[in-house]
Amino acid sequence: MDNNTYFKSTGKNQLTPITSTWMHQFMGNSELVEELVEKYGSPINVHHIPSFHKNIMEYQEVFENFEVNGQIYFARKANKSQILVKSAIEFGIGVDTASYRELEQAISLGGTNDNVVLTAAIKNEALMRLAIQNQIPIIIDNLDELQLANKVAGDLNQKATIGLRISGFQVGKQKLYSRFGFDIEQDVYNLKVWFSDSSTFKNLQLTGFHFHLDGYSIEERGEATIQSLTIVQQFRQMGHHIEFLDIGGGILMNYLESKAEWVTFQNNLKDAVLGKGEAITFNNNGLGFSLNDKYQLQGDLKTYPYYNEVNGAKFLSEVLSYKNENGQTVAELIKEANIQMRIEPGRSLLNQVGLTLGTVAHRKRDAKGNWLVGLEMNMSQLKSSSADFLLDPFVIYRSETEENESAEVYFTGAYCLEQDVLLKRKLVFPRLPSRGDYVAFVNTAGYMMHFYETEAHLFELSQNLYINREAENLEVEHIHNDSNLIREKETVDMKEN
Ligand SMILES: Cc1ncc(COP(=O)(O)O)c(C=O)c1O
Repeated sequence: MDNNTYFKSTGKNQLTPITSTWMHQFMGNSELVEELVEKYGSPINVHHIPSFHKNIMEYQEVFENFEVNGQIYFARKANKSQILVKSAIEFGIGVDTASYRELEQAISLGGTNDNVVLTAAIKNEALMRLAIQNQIPIIIDNLDELQLANKVAGDLNQKATIGLRISGFQVGKQKLYSRFGFDIEQDVYNLKVWFSDSSTFKNLQLTGFHFHLDGYSIEERGEATIQSLTIVQQFRQMGHHIEFLDIGGGILMNYLESKAEWVTFQNNLKDAVLGKGEAITFNNNGLGFSLNDKYQLQGDLKTYPYYNEVNGAKFLSEVLSYKNENGQTVAELIKEANIQMRIEPGRSLLNQVGLTLGTVAHRKRDAKGNWLVGLEMNMSQLKSSSADFLLDPFVIYRSETEENESAEVYFTGAYCLEQDVLLKRKLVFPRLPSRGDYVAFVNTAGYMMHFYETEAHLFELSQNLYINREAENLEVEHIHNDSNLIREKETVDMKEN
């Protein structure tokens, strides 16, 4: 085997990730990787901004094809990098912010009331004030928030622009429960009373409605849009200028190349849990499957649905094509209502945008004979909200070695927890990684790298880097440090003042 080469894990349970040319150019450039790790430590997160732009354009094209007035708000919670906020604004889309610092940064990176929205689940007075002073639309979740926004706007002698978050849509025979928003059955009556005169909330200007649904159902999004449009019409009849309907995020993305691999993996996982096949996960973790007291299989796979044929732009097209009982599509209804349809994708706008790379610190065999490969990173830096991140990683081999037989390994992290096993799946590589080799986890920009990242043991947070160009012949100066963005801006501001 050549030196300086990189390999994906393989074997009969492989789950081949979809990758982009930039990722291969990056992983194939081990000198560059070495320089970056020397400069920034391990792990690093690398972002490719042209891929972010491509994803934006795909959604814009869908809106154009359906001739729908649509706008995208990047749900910034999915990734902490400032460059994505700056780029979103430069590429002409908006930013959905969910906290004081997210809002403050979005404003300082060029966001305005035209392209920023505040959807934070918890809003204190300071956050309301920041939004209102900057005329940023606030998505209101409950009565206390209505009262607070009204008070803060009054104190500031301004009007607050608001949208109302609604939930509890009826789909089939089921009501979609959510802890968020005003319930469309129980609360809309009160909302109508409060907004029927201009005195109850005299400092609020209602301009839109919003929902965000858990899960990834096209039908639920279609139904919720149709039911929201009825409410929009009712509030318009009361004299409100409703300009937008924001249908939130949750657009599915596809991580995997092969349906066959996805199916095989799940079958083998079930067999392993049943004891009919060898364990394919650490300690035979069922990732949601387990045995009941009759030793029968129970449960479901509790991971993100990593393989999806209908994803991204196609998913949005299907929501727009969803028909009401009269056969009218969501796109037709949106046009007829002459309203802007907003979406807030987080994960799916980050498709193919990032990778996370860690350095191999040690190898050891545990008492069961498993190879455990310790990486200089921890479980919070590659953490899915679901039971596992089911994409094959790559090893970038640096060292020459005589060993040349395949090795089954688990990657472990730096937290003092037995559970800090970075991926639960057993992985197979052409040879055992050595100290100083690198492991690259691809497509981690959406939630994986940041959402659960913690500083336990006082470990530094990972460094976020970005590439603003195509990735051939990359050199270290083409890779920028995200944390310099605000610093650079502060320097410019200081010079200007
Ligand atoms: C209000 C709101 N909008 C948008 C999103 C983004 O969702 P996704 O990343 O699944 O597109 C979320 C995610 O939790 C959300 O809560």
